[in-house]
Amino acid sequence: MTSTNKGKSSRLEFAKLNELKNGYPVFSLFDGTYLSTTSGLEEIHHTFIKHNQLTERFSALADHELFTIGETGFGAGLNFLYCWQHFNEQAPDSARLHFISAEKNPISPQDWQRALALFPSLKELSEQLTSSYISASIGHQHLCFAEGRIKLTLLMGDMLDTLSHLDGKVDAWFLNGFRPSRNTAMWQPELFKTIAGKSRLHTTYTASTSDRTVSNSLAEAGFSVEQACCFDPKREVIKGTLAKLPGAEVNHPIWFQPPALSSSRSKTAIVIGGGIAGTSTAHTLARRGWQVTLLEQREDLAMAASGNPQGILYAKLSANQTPLSQFIVQGYCYSINLLKQLSDDSTELWQQSGVIQMAINAKIEQRQKELASVFPEDLLSFHDSDELSRIAGIPVDHSGLYFPAAGWVKPAELCKNLASHPNITIKSRTTIESLKRESDTWTVEAVESHNRQPLRFSADIVVVACATASKNLDQLSHLPLKNIRGQITEVEVTSASKQLKTTVCGEGYVAPADNDRHTFGATFDFNSQSEEVIDAEHQQNIVMQQQWNPHFLEAAGGADTKIIGGKAGFRSTTPDYLPVVGAIIDRLQFMDDFAMLRKNTRHTFNQPPAYLNGLYVNAGHGSRGMITGPLSGEVLAAMICGETSPIPDSLIDAMNPARFLIRDMSRNRI
Ligand SMILES: Cc1cc2nc3c(=O)[nH]c(=O)nc-3n(C[C@H](O)[C@H](O)[C@H](O)COP(=O)(O)OP(=O)(O)OC[C@H]3O[C@@H](n4cnc5c(N)ncnc54)[C@H](O)[C@@H]3O)c2cc1C
Ligand SMILES: C[S@@+](CC[C@H](N)C(=O)[O-])C[C@H]1O[C@@H](n2cnc3c(N)ncnc32)[C@H](O)[C@@H]1O
Repeated sequence: MTSTNKGKSSRLEFAKLNELKNGYPVFSLFDGTYLSTTSGLEEIHHTFIKHNQLTERFSALADHELFTIGETGFGAGLNFLYCWQHFNEQAPDSARLHFISAEKNPISPQDWQRALALFPSLKELSEQLTSSYISASIGHQHLCFAEGRIKLTLLMGDMLDTLSHLDGKVDAWFLNGFRPSRNTAMWQPELFKTIAGKSRLHTTYTASTSDRTVSNSLAEAGFSVEQACCFDPKREVIKGTLAKLPGAEVNHPIWFQPPALSSSRSKTAIVIGGGIAGTSTAHTLARRGWQVTLLEQREDLAMAASGNPQGILYAKLSANQTPLSQFIVQGYCYSINLLKQLSDDSTELWQQSGVIQMAINAKIEQRQKELASVFPEDLLSFHDSDELSRIAGIPVDHSGLYFPAAGWVKPAELCKNLASHPNITIKSRTTIESLKRESDTWTVEAVESHNRQPLRFSADIVVVACATASKNLDQLSHLPLKNIRGQITEVEVTSASKQLKTTVCGEGYVAPADNDRHTFGATFDFNSQSEEVIDAEHQQNIVMQQQWNPHFLEAAGGADTKIIGGKAGFRSTTPDYLPVVGAIIDRLQFMDDFAMLRKNTRHTFNQPPAYLNGLYVNAGHGSRGMITGPLSGEVLAAMICGETSPIPDSLIDAMNPARFLIRDMSRNRI
C-alpha cells in the first residue's frame, strides 16, 4: 500500500444513503440494500453467527484468547456491532475479539447516524463506535473498546488491495459486498486467494450469496463449499471452511521476515523505560494477560521527554501517502480513541481542544491547501485567518489547517494511567546496564539508581523503550537513534489569555490554559546534550509566539509575560523520522548471513534473519510520541502475541529496527 498509493488522494467517496425502504437504508453505489428490508439483526444472526458457529466458538474461548473475524464490506457496521454484542453475551470476560473489516465507500457521518438509529438495541455500542471513528481516509484505522476486549481494524480502500496487506490470520470470514452481478469488481478469484492466504486451516466463512462464480472461486482457493439456508427462505447462502492451506504467504522481504513465535507460556515481560513508549507497551501486554515488570531509572514514570505538562497531538502530514504520513494518520486516530477510552469523569488525561496549524509562509499555505484537498474534512480542513480567529477565541493573523478531533495531552498523567494496570509492577530508580539471554529467559542486570546496588530481573521477553539510551545496550547498538534537545516554557495565564480555546501551532506552539498556566513550545538544539533549563531558550519560545501569534502573546502579558516554569528534554529521532518498532536481530549473525547485500542487492537469500528471540524495541518517536507511541505499543504487542497487526505489512517493514543496517550494508557503508 505504501508504494502503490503514493500520490493518490486519501479521500474516499462516500456511499450515498438514498432513501429508507420500509425503514431500512438503501445505498446507491451498487443499488444494494445493506440488510434485508424485513429482518435486520435476525438475518445477521442467521447468516453470519449461526453458519460460522460463533455462539459455540465464542463460549469455548480460553482466558485472554483472541478470536479474529474478517469481513468484506463494513457498510453501516451492523455486523460488527451485532458481533460485539453477541461476544459480550457469550465469551468469557477476559477473551478478546478482533474484528477486521474492509470498506471502500464509507457512509457519511450523518447518514451513518440515520442508519444506526434504526437499531435501538445496539444504541450504546453504536454511540461508542461513531464517536471514536474519525475519518474516511485510506489506510487502516484501529480502534479499541471495552478496555481492549473489543478491537476493530478498518481497512479503508479497495479490499483487493487492503486485504492483501493484512498481516495476520482470521478465524471466521463474513463475505458480503452486494450482489456479485452488481459488484463484479469485488468478487474476483483474486479476492478469495487473498482470503485463503489470511486464513488458518479450518477457518470458516459464510458468503451472503450462492452465486456459482463465487462458489467456484472459493473452491479453487481451497475452501469447502456448502449451500446453507438463508433467513429469507427464497434465497441461499454458502458456507464452508478452508480445507487446504495455500502455499506460504510472503508478506515481507526475506530480511524483514518476522521471528518464529516464542513457545513460552508463562507470559512474563520486562519493559524498560517509563515514557509513553514503555507504558503504552506495558499496558497493552497487561491487557492481554501478560505479567509485566516496568523498569525506570528515574524516581518516577514520565520524567524524561514524556514529562512535559502539555503534549500536542500534532499531525504533520504529507499529501503523498508516505509511510511516515500513513503512520501518523493511523497513530493520530488511535491515540484519540485511546484517550477517549481511558478518560472518565474523574480522569482528565487530555483536552480535545482542536489544533490549528498556521500557514506561516506561502509554501506552507500551498502545501496545506493540497492536504485539505486530499484528506477528509473530519480529519483536517483549511481556513482563512478570520475563521481560525473565531475557532481560537483570540485573533490569528494567518490562514491554516484545523484538526477538530485533536488537542493536547497530559503526558505524565497518561503514562501513569497506562501503567496502573494490576498486571504491571513498576520498579522506578532502577537503571538497566545490560541484557543476557540464558536458555529461554532474558536476564536484565540493573543497579539501584541512587546507590548502585545490583539488581536482577528475568522474564520471557524484554521490550526496550529507553528512547536514544536504548542503543547503550549492546544488542541494540546498531540503532541510529539521535537526541535533539528541546525546551518548553510555562507561563502564567491572564484573564485575556484564558480566552484561547484551541491549540495554536506555527513555528512553536501554545496550548489553552491548564492549571493556570500555558505551555509554550518548543526549541530545537541539535548539539547540546544538557537537560538544564536555560533563559535563552525561554526567550526563543516567547519570540516564536511574538512573531507568529502576537495577539495571543499580548493577551498573555506581552513584554510582561510571566515565566513560571520550564522543562528541557530530548526528542529521540531516526534518520527517516519513523520510530523503530519490532524484534531485534542478532547483529553479527545478520551481517554474516546477508553479507552479499554489499555486492548485490538483488541476491536471492534463502534464510530469514536470526533473531535474539524475545527481544524487542519501541523507540525513536521524535517530536510526535503522543501520536506514534501508543499505536507502536499496540503493533508490538500484536507481533509478540502472533496476532493480526493493526497496521499493514508495508508499515511494519517501514519501522523494522534492522532497516538501517540493511540500508548501510546495501550501500557498502559497513
Ligand atoms: C521539548 C519537547 C517538546 C515536545 N513536544 C511534543 C508534543 O507537543 N507532542 C508530541 O507528540 N511529542 C512531543 N515531544 C516528543 C515526545 O515527548 C517524545 O516523542 C516522547 O515523549 C518519547 O517517549 P519515549 O517513551 O520514547 O521516551 P522517554 O519519554 O524519553 O522515555 C524513555 C524512558 O527511558 C528511561 N531510561 C533510559 N535509559 C534507561 C535505563 N538504562 N534504565 C532504565 N530506564 C531508562 C528514561 O529515564 C525515560 O523515562 C516533545 C519533546 C520535547 C523534548
Ligand atoms: C452489504 S454492504 C455490507 C453491510 C455491512 N457489513 C453492515 O454490517 O452494515 C457491502 C459493503 O461492501 C462495500 N464494498 C463493495 N465493494 C468493495 C470493495 N471493492 N472494496 C471495499 N469495500 C467494498 C460497500 O461499500 C458496502 O459498504
